[in-house]
Amino acid sequence: MSRKPRIRFTTSNAVRPSGRRTLRLAIVGFGTVGSGTAKVLLEHQQEVERRLGCRLQLKTICDIQARDVSWLGRTVEITRDWKQVVNDPEVDIVVELIGGLTTARAVAFATLAARKHLVTANKQLVAEHGVELAERSRAAGVQLGIEACVAGGTPLLHAIREGLAGEHFTAVYGILNGTTNYILTEMERRGCSFRQALAEAQEKGYAERDPTFDVQGYDTRYKIAILAMLCFGQTVRVESIPVEGITRIDQVDFAYAHRLSHTIRLIAAARRRPQNRLEISVRPMMIPQASALANVLGSINGVLLVGNKGGNTTMTGRGAGGEPTGVAVLSDVVEIARSMLAGGTSTTPLGYTRWHPAKIALPGESIVAAYMRLVVRDRPGILARVCGILARHRINIDSVLQQPAMPKGHLPFVMTLEATREKHVLRAVAEIARLPFLSEPPLVMPFAELP
Ligand code: NDP
Ligand code: HSE
Repeated sequence: MSRKPRIRFTTSNAVRPSGRRTLRLAIVGFGTVGSGTAKVLLEHQQEVERRLGCRLQLKTICDIQARDVSWLGRTVEITRDWKQVVNDPEVDIVVELIGGLTTARAVAFATLAARKHLVTANKQLVAEHGVELAERSRAAGVQLGIEACVAGGTPLLHAIREGLAGEHFTAVYGILNGTTNYILTEMERRGCSFRQALAEAQEKGYAERDPTFDVQGYDTRYKIAILAMLCFGQTVRVESIPVEGITRIDQVDFAYAHRLSHTIRLIAAARRRPQNRLEISVRPMMIPQASALANVLGSINGVLLVGNKGGNTTMTGRGAGGEPTGVAVLSDVVEIARSMLAGGTSTTPLGYTRWHPAKIALPGESIVAAYMRLVVRDRPGILARVCGILARHRINIDSVLQQPAMPKGHLPFVMTLEATREKHVLRAVAEIARLPFLSEPPLVMPFAELP
């Protein structure tokens, strides 16, 4: 078999900046993001190559499904075996787009062991093994691209790592999941049901393979763990981050939120607290309608970075979907190629060269004002019982709201509670949950304290 002469794009054998070279990549996992990335590459190839000054060839697709990939052209090789890709000496960059942990981790470690550059969109892999991946890539003298892991097609991680590298972050707040934001904003905008909005988000390619990862907040939890590494240089055990999803949010909550000039979003928040503690959570929150995050709609993601010197920096952009995420993946490929062309310097993909384990703030210690929605079988004396419990826990009521003409057998009403330590609210709510006239558990959401 005749073989073309080729240039190895490794850091130990850097490419000379002169002349037209060919950089070869392989995509492992050809679902929503894998195929989206290939489409973006094929459509933008000439432009990207003009930016790079070298050729970019999609050499191999590793796909375990039988599907029509004729649109890729005849030069792209197809395999079902990821090991073939990782062991192919012609492949310079492996792009892992399988998702999940087990096989993805094997692909990632094998890629770095083979001294190939790795790009991944896998937030679970990076949240759980980011430091190890960064250290292995540094030791191997290759690069790791992770831009697509958080906020999809929005260049958030580059902004944190490069553009704001001189900043000392005090907090980060984000809407980091396109699926849940699509669901919440469609419920709010069109009054459609949770189920219908989720089906649409799946249809549009925003949702994870198992959409409970999205709606229960787990996907967002991986992303805020990654942001804690990049913004604060702190590693956080993912399971230690309190998480609450959006499945209990009802249209009536939007009606009440609007009466309070607020709306509801799934907010990931991480704040530095006294004694070097990190307060970190993922949960639906009431946010002022006038805030920038309230105007983050559909699958768009929005992030508010709070810096010691620069104050607030807000970024919004596409958070999900094959092609927007493909842009982020391809941008990592371009960055790696550029750095190889310039002599193969290694980057610090997680923004720091050393991390320390986060000391998570004790749960319940934060001071919050809260929204509490109760659904009751109506009868006299309900308010008196609920107010009695709140008074015993020394919680001051700010307002009581009840929409007119609600069904008596399933009556949702709302109390807003003045700011107090969250543990007091939780204890009071646990007692309220046992009252006999409640037809479902109370729903409690904090009012976000956005700067
Ligand atoms: P998909 O499920 O659409 O695609 C994953 C593909 O990988 C599937 O076709 C799957 O095949 C295939 N696969 C599984 N195991 C192997 C294997 N051993 N070898 C080759 N292929 C394999 O997921 P997405 O494209 O949505 O997500 C991919 C990654 O990107 C995930 O980490 C996700 O979190 C992340 N991401 C997704 C975004 C999005 O908007 N969808 C945005 C940002 C990041 P099969 O179906 O047969 O199992
Ligand atoms: N399922 C994720 C979302 C994809 O909806 O945001 C992007 O990570």
